[in-house]
Amino acid sequence: MNSFDQYFFKRILIVAYRLPFKLIRKKEESYIVQNSGGLVSAILSLSEKMKSAPDSSSKILWIGTGEKELGNETIHTNFELHPVEIPRKISERYYSGFCNDTIWPLFHYFPSRTVYDNSYFDAYVTANNLFLQQLKNLIKPGDFIWIHDYQLFLLPEMVRKDFPTADIGFFLHIPFPSYELFRLLPKKWRESLLNGMTGADVVGFHTNDYAQHFIKSVKRTLGYKVERNFITVNDRLCKADAFPIGIDFKKFNDACNTQKTNHQKDKLRTYLSGNKLLFSVDRLDYSKGFILRLRAFERFLEKYPEWHFKVVFNMVVIPSRDNIEGYRELKKEIEATVGRVNGKYSTLNWRPIIYQYKSIPFNELVAIYNISEVGLITPLRDGMNLVAKEYVTCQTDHCGMLVLSEMAGAAVELNEAILINPTDTEETSDAINKALSMSDEEKESRMRKMQNRLSRYNVFRWTTDFFNQVNDVKKEQEHMQVKFMDNNSLNSLQVKYKNAQNRLFLIDYDGTLAPIAKLPEMAVLDEKTRDILRKIISDSRNKVVIISGRRKEFIEEQSKDLNAILVAEHGYFIKYPKAAWENNLEIDLSWKKKIQPILNDYVDRCNGSMVEDKYASVVWHYRNADEEIATLRINELKDDLSEILKSEPKLFVLEGDKVLEVKSILYDKGTVASALISKVNYDFILALGDDRTDEDLFKVIPDNGFTIKVGSKPSNARFNVRSQQQIYEILNLFTDASTSKIK
Ligand code: UDP
Ligand code: G6P
Repeated sequence: MNSFDQYFFKRILIVAYRLPFKLIRKKEESYIVQNSGGLVSAILSLSEKMKSAPDSSSKILWIGTGEKELGNETIHTNFELHPVEIPRKISERYYSGFCNDTIWPLFHYFPSRTVYDNSYFDAYVTANNLFLQQLKNLIKPGDFIWIHDYQLFLLPEMVRKDFPTADIGFFLHIPFPSYELFRLLPKKWRESLLNGMTGADVVGFHTNDYAQHFIKSVKRTLGYKVERNFITVNDRLCKADAFPIGIDFKKFNDACNTQKTNHQKDKLRTYLSGNKLLFSVDRLDYSKGFILRLRAFERFLEKYPEWHFKVVFNMVVIPSRDNIEGYRELKKEIEATVGRVNGKYSTLNWRPIIYQYKSIPFNELVAIYNISEVGLITPLRDGMNLVAKEYVTCQTDHCGMLVLSEMAGAAVELNEAILINPTDTEETSDAINKALSMSDEEKESRMRKMQNRLSRYNVFRWTTDFFNQVNDVKKEQEHMQVKFMDNNSLNSLQVKYKNAQNRLFLIDYDGTLAPIAKLPEMAVLDEKTRDILRKIISDSRNKVVIISGRRKEFIEEQSKDLNAILVAEHGYFIKYPKAAWENNLEIDLSWKKKIQPILNDYVDRCNGSMVEDKYASVVWHYRNADEEIATLRINELKDDLSEILKSEPKLFVLEGDKVLEVKSILYDKGTVASALISKVNYDFILALGDDRTDEDLFKVIPDNGFTIKVGSKPSNARFNVRSQQQIYEILNLFTDASTSKIK
């Protein structure tokens, strides 16, 4: 059974701003109609598929705003509607305010239209909470909760707080802007939105660019660690990825030749009386680029008069958000521009633009798609744009061509279209001419390629891919499950210690004994820890080894007055109490001369980084550098080093916490620990560490020993502790005062 089937039999809770249906009341009667949009058709198609599955008890529950009565409607037995009620006053500031006057313009690259109003944000929090309350009434163990779009950014984290192990997905249907735009939001809002989204297991976007913009914003705003597309949110993994939404290819393709559509096509052809049809269909929105599109068409008429009396441009504008002032103004501007262009070019028997402000029934839409010779889809920004995909799908005779804005998410998949920049009216007007003049063979070849792609990456693939990713992330989270020390494990550690006669402590320095500091020389051992170590060492049955990657001088300075065994440079040097430093390794270090200049070069190329020249290795530190530049540089540096390493097989690049070290493979913390362990028959061994280099140490500790890692990363250690401060508490278990309490 693949993961899709697995999810197939669970309940899926869709949470989106709107329910997929609305109630239309006419006189005494009322009936329900389907709302538009990619999500609605994707989920309804999925529901159809679930209905025919062997286990018909599987269900989709949709939580969204809509008429209360919709809650009593049975759409079908496996599909329930759960309306969320938002009081009018909140709704105005939430929907018209924060959603459509703050996020929508900013995320579509219209910063000057963006309104910043604290009461909008407060209403946004309240409304997200209302969705949460409705969800809480419904959630059952095993449910998959799929939250959609910019109206519900806060909800994934809210759900996560109440249901920590729930399977939660989030999908954004609009663009995620570059960080430079996103950072225009006040810090508190920015943090809330990103924390909200990262509450999900998977955060999906239409394109990889949007996913990368999001990841960058998370890194810069929240400072979370990101590896590939995985974000570590406290102890949990969250994956950000691209899932371009597809359409129900078969449904649109099959609809092109039905009786109803053919009837619509005949009507259209009669009306066109030989003119070629150009079309556009969009919701009323300033992001769709209506005015520039009309100007480009005007320029086309001016520049290519040979097309007069031969083409008609049908511009359909679907009513949307017309209770918002800016949208009403836009409508007036569109109407004025259409009037002006038509006034300029119309004759008694030819009007170049047919403007319609209304919704178009499905078969009429398919008929337009099918017979249009040019689709003019030129948004200034668009998360995806399904109309472009629907048009290509409905080109069953391959006689048309798509002129598409490169600012639409769909342009990533439809690159055989004529791609234009919508602000360049000259380019767009030329593109219209090019589309009309293109040879039939070329149109057919381009259309077939696009159709092929759309038929494969259809709406079912979109849902399946998303579910599969959630499943994979859940597995990855399980794999990452770390076992934090609890009272029981602390107790057994203490009992084992008390009953032992020969005890060995192997303790890493940075990040374990001493907290990580901004500058390496600032990471000093505090008096409290020093005191505890002294107490432990004073018991003759205990041997303490401080095992570090640091230079011997530093580690000796920090450990003075402590009768501990010191290991420096990952095992290259060792020092027994009251003896001198020893080094029993015969290693040629001439390679250092080749490596040093390369690392120095990277210090120049990455502000804030530095090189540490140790006796047997060289290290590049980048803790104080800009994270992004450092990430870029580290990959380049690894490339450069790999060239040299080809001729130096005994060298190794060791990546630690914000450091990259080049050293010999002939020794590590593991080899030195093994040597120490083999000398005495220890009945208690405890190894403590925090970094990648300590993994070598953990690996060589016998099964009956204890290994503890600081932090929540998966490790070879048996246990984890959340913070470095807890190391002090652990060491404190071994003082006389503590052990005397154990019976
Ligand atoms: N559409 C509609 N009613 C119409 C004409 C079109 O519902 O009268 C549909 C169209 O088929 C498409 C959706 O509306 O699936 C518009 O989606 P798109 O991604 O193009 O734009 P959005 O509205 O999401 O900004
Ligand atoms: C876009 C958004 C949807 C929204 C739709 C219609 O497609 O991504 O979330 O529902 O526009 O907008 P409206 O404001 O009418 O819901």
